[in-house]
Amino acid sequence: MATINENFLKLQAGYLFPEVSRRVRSFQAQNPDAKIISLGIGDVTQPLPPAIIEAMKKAVDDMGTAATFRGYGPEQGYDFLIDAIIENDYKSRGVDVEPDEVFISDGAKCDTGNIQEIFGLDNVVAITDPSYPVYVDSNVMAGRTGKGNKNGQYDKIVYMPCTAENNFIPELPKTPVDIIYLCFPNNPTGAVATKEILTKWVDFARSNKAVILFDAAYEAFITEPDIPHSIYEIEGAKEVAIEFRSFSKTAGFTGVRCAFTVVPKQLKGATSDGRVVEVNPLWNRRHSTKFNGASYISQAGAAAIYTTEGKKQTRQIIDIYRGNAKLICESLTKLGYKVYGGVNAPYIWIKTPDGLSSWDFFDRLLRKANVVGTPGAGFGPAGQGYFRLTAFARPEDVKEAMQRFASV
Ligand code: MLT
Repeated sequence: MATINENFLKLQAGYLFPEVSRRVRSFQAQNPDAKIISLGIGDVTQPLPPAIIEAMKKAVDDMGTAATFRGYGPEQGYDFLIDAIIENDYKSRGVDVEPDEVFISDGAKCDTGNIQEIFGLDNVVAITDPSYPVYVDSNVMAGRTGKGNKNGQYDKIVYMPCTAENNFIPELPKTPVDIIYLCFPNNPTGAVATKEILTKWVDFARSNKAVILFDAAYEAFITEPDIPHSIYEIEGAKEVAIEFRSFSKTAGFTGVRCAFTVVPKQLKGATSDGRVVEVNPLWNRRHSTKFNGASYISQAGAAAIYTTEGKKQTRQIIDIYRGNAKLICESLTKLGYKVYGGVNAPYIWIKTPDGLSSWDFFDRLLRKANVVGTPGAGFGPAGQGYFRLTAFARPEDVKEAMQRFASV
């Protein structure tokens, strides 16, 4: 009989969001009349902007004519999209990125999950607690961790707690680490890192020869002018950091699928016999072996985000979500909740009332208000006693959910 990858058996319970859906489905089955509002998974609700729809329709038409039909595209992505990314996301911020450092993909979830494959299994991984579950789970699956304990933490991972006491900004690790996952604006806490904070991390990575895996999927939600949108705005970051970006939340692409990862050519890693090698060709090799490129239609849509109209229209949508975040923060603060995030991020992180555990509050909110959120404990043990709400719902649903919160 074929044996299995037993690392999968170390994983605790199911993935967070399917577990939330399971509980919601079961509640709905028992309460068929309940009009449930979801502020749970961060899935967008506004339709795609017209400039993107137009570009995607044109791309579909291209596919219907022999002269413009496209088969397999370049695995790394089409130049028209890579060039637009470099011009708008990096050059405009004084950052030099070369075309062969950008890898277009079908999602930051896949990229943040897959990137660990190009690093050795003996690396010590540091992950914030709480964090997007993909960082921990993908390292467990790969066998880079020991067994999980009853708190849901795994041996060999260095956890960096982020709580109200440290403003949800992790302290530098006190023990040696090789790979560091950072996400700013943060999912789930909504915290952001200033230039000083990111500089501290880049300097730490440079002096410890560590790699930072920087998840910037929510950068479009930054409102304050001095907050870096890219880790490469920090001097020396290209020597130590890989950056992940996504069009999912920026432009409503959760159902379209398109994202990108920047792997700088300056970034190096070591072999077990002490040779120093570039990391970029390894990701290129991995990408072109296991991936055939995001669809032409998705990439054409993504490129339209960077046109004048596209920028204006996506900004309008982001403003709608920002309005939601503001309403959630203000309403819950008025109701006496301790509220974090929501200013430079689409996530609002609240302290559960009455000392309730995250899942107990989830159940109470669902039962009393028919509102769904995400239990903070699902993002790691330091998330216990916290609860995440997303601003990606429809404004009318957010308004109604906030009225219902009054009865919880
Ligand atoms: C979330 O709710 O944390 C995100 O939507 C999940 C994801 O982007 O995969």
